[in-house]
Amino acid sequence: MTHDAAAARTEPGRSNSPVHRRASIVENVPIARDTYRIRLADAAIAGSIRPGQFVMVRPVAGEENDPLLGRPLALYDLARDASGTPVAFDLVYLVIGRGTAALARCQPGESLPVWGPLGNGFGPAPGGPVVFVAGGIGQTPFLALGREWLNPGPDGRICPSATILYGVRTAALLAGVEDFRAAGIQVELATDDGSAGHHGFVTELLARRIERGEVPARIVACGPPAMLAAVARIAEQHGVDCEVSLENHMACGFGACFSCVAPIHQPDGTVDLKRVCVEGPVFSARSVAWGG
Ligand SMILES: Cc1cc2nc3c(=O)[nH]c(=O)nc-3n(C[C@H](O)[C@H](O)[C@H](O)COP(=O)(O)OP(=O)(O)OC[C@H]3O[C@@H](n4cnc5c(N)ncnc54)[C@H](O)[C@@H]3O)c2cc1C
Ligand code: FES
Repeated sequence: MTHDAAAARTEPGRSNSPVHRRASIVENVPIARDTYRIRLADAAIAGSIRPGQFVMVRPVAGEENDPLLGRPLALYDLARDASGTPVAFDLVYLVIGRGTAALARCQPGESLPVWGPLGNGFGPAPGGPVVFVAGGIGQTPFLALGREWLNPGPDGRICPSATILYGVRTAALLAGVEDFRAAGIQVELATDDGSAGHHGFVTELLARRIERGEVPARIVACGPPAMLAAVARIAEQHGVDCEVSLENHMACGFGACFSCVAPIHQPDGTVDLKRVCVEGPVFSARSVAWGG
């Protein structure tokens, strides 16, 4: 199988309706401190999922009820068979609690309940350079997205360059840096403790870049809420189009429980609570009511 998310966009005639099934684990390997890449074999999801969409995964190999709820994880990459057909998809996850710890214990050959693709995903490529800003485990949607935007889409539009500004607490948490480079995405790193790249916040890399005149056509950000709010402010100050992918807590993942809502500005000037799992996770940064 080959890694390739370049054709992650839904091809004409393919369905993007979510399916709920058990997907078997092809591999589940550590790639950084507390961080794993899991490959799940499911041709229906792999053939229809788009960058920015996610799946809900329940980390139970048998009929257990615990944990009852799935955990949302973004598409990282696709794997294809020899004919180029997507047959499996990769997720990259950081172990932070019970669900992701249970996922890390799952073994190849076991199968997990998965439903997806879910959420809206990203739109077409901008006509100019793009900068992705990732904090913590927020880099995961940008491999598939970078591959897609650096390759001509059905509309013929191509993004001329993509750079990821990727910040973590310490170098040991950097996950997938070589995957981004191999996909033609330039990488600039920041760490809180100075153990790799810029010593400081990833948003400082963004601000510096814009101040020296390297203004992208679009900024896309994913990471902790404080980082997203800071990125949104910088984009607004410099008049740059900006999208964010929100990672709110989710219970159902398909619009039924309202556990994932975010405050979103409406055209009439009001703010309404929108479900991140259905109306998102990707929103225009300007539409989000950041508070503070
Ligand atoms: C659309 C979407 C895509 C995502 N993609 C990825 C991905 O690709 N890789 C990845 O590692 N994670 C991703 N996440 C976050 C991931 O879903 C959570 O980290 C995971 O659900 C935590 O489950 P858990 O059972 O391990 O932790 P829990 O036991 O549920 O929680 C442990 C602790 O972490 C806190 N917590 C849990 N979830 C979040 C959250 N979303 N934000 C802030 N704090 C939280 C809890 O309050 C608690 O304190 C994504 C989330 C969303 C909504
Ligand atoms: S997670 Fe249930 S409505 Fe979004």
